[in-house]
Formats: sequence, C-alpha cells, structure tokens
Amino acid sequence: MFAAAKFVHLVSLGLVALAIANAFLGPRAARAAAPVRNELFAVIALFGRLGRIGLLLLWLTGIWMLFDRYGGNPAGLPATFLWKLGFVVAATIGVIVIDYTPWRHHPPVVAIGGLIADAAIVVAVLLAVLTFN
Ligand code: HEM
Repeated sequence: MFAAAKFVHLVSLGLVALAIANAFLGPRAARAAAPVRNELFAVIALFGRLGRIGLLLLWLTGIWMLFDRYGGNPAGLPATFLWKLGFVVAATIGVIVIDYTPWRHHPPVVAIGGLIADAAIVVAVLLAVLTFN
C-alpha cells in the first residue's frame, strides 16, 4: 500500500506542475486577442483545478505515508522534512489566497501569490529528495 501512496504522491506532483504552467500561460492570455484569450483562460482554469486536486492528493498521500512508514511523527524525520512541510504549508496558503479569497480578483495578488506558491513547491520537492534519498 505504501508504494500505491507514493505512486499517487508523485503523479499528484505532475498535476501540480500543470498549475505551475499557469505562470507562463497567464501573461500570454493577458496579451492575447479576445478569442484566444478566452481559450487560454479556460485552459488556465482547468490547470488550476487539476493543480488543486494534485495538492489535496499530496496532502492525503503524504499523511498516509507518514503514518504507514514513519509512525505518524514528523519529528522523527530529518529536519529537512519539517522544512519541507513548512514550504508545503506556504504553498497551500498561497493557493487558498489566490483561489478562495476576495484577493482572487486582484491580478497582482494572483501573480505574486502564484509565484510564491510555485517557488515553495519547487523547494518542497528539493527538500523531499534531500530527506528521502
Ligand atoms: C506540495 C506538496 C508536496 C510535494 C511537492 C511533495 C514531494 C515529494 C517528493 C518529490 C517525494 C519523493 C522523494 C524521494 O523519494 O526522493 C515525496 C515523498 C514523501 N512525502 Fe511528499 N510532497 C508534498 C507533500 C507532502 C505532505 C503534506 C506530506 C506529509 C504530511 C508528505 C510526506 C511525504 C513522505 C512521508 C514521503 C516519502 C516517503 C518515502 O519514500 O519514505 N509530502 N514528497
């Protein structure tokens, strides 16, 4: 079962990567002519949704693996794991702010919040690799 959880964990990271692609698609959509812009915004919305599903699955499978193999206690793992959790929390807060609060209607907040969430996820991957290699 652990392998199944880790498989889903890594596939979920692929879903999150789609949302990271929105950092490149967003500026293109803003510059594009109306019909193309509408299409790009539809793709951006889809990637955002898939990314949110991926982040939720990362939490669920991560907690699952933590209990399955490490007794549910993150303190028993190297400090890099706690740092990883910190960056995951930062990414999650960023996603909540840009998708579920009134700030989601403010393009500068969405752009900066999105970049912070993207960077936090990349750092979380680095810290995961350093923890479990
Ligand atoms: C943005 C969120 C997350 C990302 C990008 C992420 C990324 C990764 C990656 C890349 C690995 C594989 C590391 C390797 O084998 O070298 C991994 C493993 C793991 N992650 Fe996450 N993770 C996230 C969230 C979480 C959360 C929320 C938890 C727990 C609360 C968690 C717990 C674990 C555990 C326990 C393993 C490894 C298990 C093992 O192979 O022994 N992850 N994660």
